[in-house]
Amino acid sequence: MRHFPLFMDLSGCPVLVLGAGEIAERKAEPLRRAGAQVRLRPMFDPADLDGCALAVGADAPEADLFALSRIARARGIPVNVVDRPELCSFIMPAIVDRDPVTIAISTGGTAPVLARMLRQRIEAVVPPAFGRLAALAGRFSGEIRRRFQDLGARRRMLERIFTGRVAALVFAGDEAGAERALADELADTGYQPGMVFLVGAGPGAGDLLTLRAQRLLGEADVIVHDRLVSDEVLDMARRDAERIFVGKARANHCMQQADINALLVRLARAGKRVVRLKGGDPLVFGRGGEEAEALAEAGVAHEIVPGITAALACAADAGIPLTHREASRAVTLATGHTKDGVLELDFAALARPGATLAIYMGIHTLAQLADGLGRCGFDQSTPAALVERGGTRRKRVLTGTLPELVAQAPAWGTGGPTLVLIGEVVARRSERVGRKREASSATFGALTDVADDAALFRPTPRSQLY
Ligand SMILES: C[S@@+](CC[C@H](N)C(=O)[O-])C[C@H]1O[C@@H](n2cnc3c(N)ncnc32)[C@H](O)[C@@H]1O
Repeated sequence: MRHFPLFMDLSGCPVLVLGAGEIAERKAEPLRRAGAQVRLRPMFDPADLDGCALAVGADAPEADLFALSRIARARGIPVNVVDRPELCSFIMPAIVDRDPVTIAISTGGTAPVLARMLRQRIEAVVPPAFGRLAALAGRFSGEIRRRFQDLGARRRMLERIFTGRVAALVFAGDEAGAERALADELADTGYQPGMVFLVGAGPGAGDLLTLRAQRLLGEADVIVHDRLVSDEVLDMARRDAERIFVGKARANHCMQQADINALLVRLARAGKRVVRLKGGDPLVFGRGGEEAEALAEAGVAHEIVPGITAALACAADAGIPLTHREASRAVTLATGHTKDGVLELDFAALARPGATLAIYMGIHTLAQLADGLGRCGFDQSTPAALVERGGTRRKRVLTGTLPELVAQAPAWGTGGPTLVLIGEVVARRSERVGRKREASSATFGALTDVADDAALFRPTPRSQLY
């Protein structure tokens, strides 16, 4: 390590910034934020260094920058000159400012662009709430020190604050609740209420998970998940987290919904931090609403974390726009799940032209769907698509008219979750440039995943849509 990192208190201290342009302003700004009294000067005058804690050379004439470096060093004032490591006695790091949490990144002056890239990554995983959490802990630090004089006990309490319910409430934006929870922890009532997070796991690919979901997975004591959650996502959980599979394949509910609700309540009451992981988004055909109701009824703290729902993942992965100014002005998410064998949908509403239908759980009831729509005057030549395992590496797409898909789906499907997309937008499908077509997608020749399938369909005339 060539440069030793340290954080300096500059409040009220004079700092000289040499330069008059944008670079000088950019350097002056964080110094001002840290409370420094910035002296911004276009030309160097050694007298400007009097009383300075630091000196920074930005966009001043070369001779001035040299003089600044030499004289500041001679007077024992740390000096930094932008992009001139040989003139510097210290480095200005890239900063992630989550006040009072501050993260400084340095590449020792060798690759400032890399430092900025690292900063962006860190900013993504350290949300501003970390600053609020640190500030809250700071407000209680005196009391924590008084109550926990033993260092080990104090450390354990702080870890509980930073990973448990208090942190969860801060991250959920409930600062008043977090403060109450922290006071409860310190009062040590022995009561350790847990919390449940209803988390959307997206379509399956690990990098389609939200950052919040990723963080919560890393912190959970227990993961309660169903069949649609991929191993790739489950692997992001803490190694020692308990995993409970509650099933939910079609017609194979390994645990009834009421039992799942009761399990979540029980775990939270045992003080566990529970992540209830659901494929896609928890509130889209995921019964997340029912679970949230049950938790609220039981007085269990919970938070809902959205995920990328199948309609969005499949549309993106198949290159099918869900809306298009010339083809669709509305999107309907509907279920193809039947009640007592009957598909209870408002077919007249769904059959209206100029919109996109995304049918979940619809592959096994496609014929009923086509019948129902047909009875309401739906144009049978409307393009449609089946997207199996959208948003994963095993995605497959089959396009055709609805009657064609009804005929071909049984032989085509391989049992993965499949979304039905119907509407003129399917004809607007765009093949991703520079990407190989999946071999598995070529099953049905011209109807399956072909680059020019737009030619198979007549685009809707503009006049019909406006
Ligand atoms: C019970 S619903 C759950 C939906 C989930 N909550 C969501 O937001 O995507 C299950 C249905 O979602 C659709 N689905 C889920 N993941 C999918 C995927 N990766 N590709 C295609 N369809 C998917 C299928 O229609 C599947 O039968």
